[in-house]
Order: sequence, then C-alpha cells, then structure tokens
Amino acid sequence: MGVFDGKVAVVTGAGRGIGREEALLLGAEGARVVVNDLGGGADGAGGDAGPAQQVVDEITSGGGQAVANTDDIATWTGSEALVNQAVEHFGGLDVVINNAGILRDRLSFNMTEEEWDSVIAVHLKGHFGVARHAAAWWRARSKETGEPAAAAIVNTASESGLYGNAGQANYAAAKAGIAALTLVLARELERIGVRVNAIAPVARTRLTEAVAGDYMKPDESGFDRFDPANVAAVACWLGSDLAAGVSGQVVKVQGGQLQLLEGWRPLTEVTDDKPWTLDSVAALRDAILGPTDGSVPPFFFGPPPTGRDPYPAAAWE
Ligand SMILES: NC(=O)c1ccc[n+]([C@@H]2O[C@H](COP(=O)([O-])OP(=O)(O)OC[C@H]3O[C@@H](n4cnc5c(N)ncnc54)[C@H](O)[C@@H]3O)[C@@H](O)[C@H]2O)c1
Repeated sequence: MGVFDGKVAVVTGAGRGIGREEALLLGAEGARVVVNDLGGGADGAGGDAGPAQQVVDEITSGGGQAVANTDDIATWTGSEALVNQAVEHFGGLDVVINNAGILRDRLSFNMTEEEWDSVIAVHLKGHFGVARHAAAWWRARSKETGEPAAAAIVNTASESGLYGNAGQANYAAAKAGIAALTLVLARELERIGVRVNAIAPVARTRLTEAVAGDYMKPDESGFDRFDPANVAAVACWLGSDLAAGVSGQVVKVQGGQLQLLEGWRPLTEVTDDKPWTLDSVAALRDAILGPTDGSVPPFFFGPPPTGRDPYPAAAWE
C-alpha cells in the first residue's frame, strides 16, 4: 500500500532538483504523476523535453504510472493545459506540488525589466496559474458531487522571500508573494476541502551549487543532509492524507531540520486617541521600534537571511 494509492498528482518543474525527487516519491507511493518540466536553463532560457521524460521513465520502470508535460507554467494557457492533462489522462487531480523555479539574480539597481518579469512570472504567476486552474476543477467537482475535493496544494516559498536576501529582489518578492498566496488559498479553498501549505526548502541543486560551494557537499556522517530527497519527503507529507487538518502553514526544511515559520505579526503597539502628527509619531519611535541605544537589537532586519551574500564586493561598484 502506498500513501498516494489512487491519487493523481501534478509536480511543476519536476525534471530536476527538488521537483524530480517529489515526483519520484509520489510515483513510488502509488500516485499517478504528471511530470511537468519545460527543461530550460537555470535562468529559464531554452527548453528540452528530456528531463521530464527521464523522470517519467524512472517512475514507470519502477512499476509506477506517470506522464510527461512540457508546458510553460509561467503562462496562463500552460498552467491550464497542465491541469487539463492530469484530468484527461488520469481522470482526476488530488495533489498539486508547485515547485518550478528559475533564478536571475542581480542587485536591484542593475536589474533589468526582463529579469524582474521572468522571475515573477515563473514563480508567482506560475504558482497561481496552476493553483487557480486546479481550484476551478475541484470547485466544479465538489459542486457536482456534493463532496469535499479532499485535495492538497504544496507551494514552494523560500527563506530568501521571508527574510530578504540581497541580489534577489525579483525572486524574494515572488517567494514572499507565494507565502501570502498560500494563506489566501488556504482560506478560500478550505470550504471545498482543499488544504494549501508551503515549504521553504534548502537543498543541493543546480540553483544552489554555484553559491553554496562545499557547504552542501555530503559529509562523512552518511546522512546526505542537502539531498533534495529530504525536501521531497516533507513536501509530499504536506500533500498527503497523513497531514490531514494541516493548512495555511509554511514549513522550512533544511537537512535534518524542520521549522514552522510564522508570518507577519504585530511585535509592538502604540495607540493615540487623536490624529497622528509627525511629532507624535517621532516621539513614539522607541516604543514602536525598540530602544535605539543598542540594548535591544533593532527589529528592522528581522532574523538573518540564509547567511550568504552571493555578491562579491565588485558587484556593488
Ligand atoms: N535548492 C534550494 O536550496 C532552494 C531553496 C529555496 C527555494 N527553492 C525553490 O525550490 C524550487 C525547485 O528548485 P531547485 O533548486 O530544485 O531547482 P532546479 O533548477 O534543479 O529545478 C527547477 C526546475 O523547474 C523547471 N522550470 C523552470 N521554469 C519552468 C516553467 N516555466 N515551466 C515548467 N518548468 C519550469 C526547470 O526546468 C527545472 O528543471 C524552486 O521554486 C526554487 O526557487 C530551492
């Protein structure tokens, strides 16, 4: 018995990295999987049907069921075609893992319109597009049958977007948007029985190999912490019935560590019973931001980002 027996799953960007491991695990656990990947470069350029088909071949050679899809999920028609393929080929849809992603890092003052638009399109619009078309299908099904859809969406956020990472204005804005989108979808789709969660992963893939260097290499412990398969287990758990009742959550997974991440929340509060003025706000500065004498760290930068600044000093010149 597999955890996903009888279920149909879609994984975007499943030809490589984390998505590949997610598709393989879903397939091994009995899901019929639509393996989406347009097979582009790490920056999104180009295309190749090979990666998606290779994952399909791996799943089917292990006795599972899978079909390849090379649609560009950054487009409305591509995400719609992906959802339709699951329904038409496998007769339904139960689990969506939104994972496809690209990077076009650049410090803000040098970033081009194309770099901004392409990253926002693949991550933010791509996540929304697939979720939106899947949600429309689940809603129609639920109306037709009178039953909850009993489905799940797992999105892929990033610490870069939650804490901010220099050089990733486009990517971080998209990933923060994905965290917000996760909350909205969780609230909207609860009534038709769809759970929506997100992971914030860290793993060794082509996106991180360039910046992480030796840090993510397997060590002698025998536990390959940064193997993307570690991430896949957490994403698939969120997408499975084992996580029944869990929705609207963002879980960080890095190696053997899981963290539940909390979203925006009030840290301090001041009130007044008359209109704010420049002077009245300025007078409350310490009360709202904390003392500026160094006794308490300023709130402004929040928790540290992933701890690496991929930008050599020259990039700032
Ligand atoms: N690797 C990490 O440590 C890390 C950290 C935080 C977030 N993430 C996120 O995890 C996800 C997976 O990244 P990865 O590290 O496995 O990268 P990866 O480059 O190995 O895999 C991403 C896959 O997405 C595919 N893809 C890109 N654009 C697509 C599109 N428009 N349509 C269909 N497929 C498309 C690519 O072809 C690629 O195979 C991304 O959303 C990434 O931002 C990764």
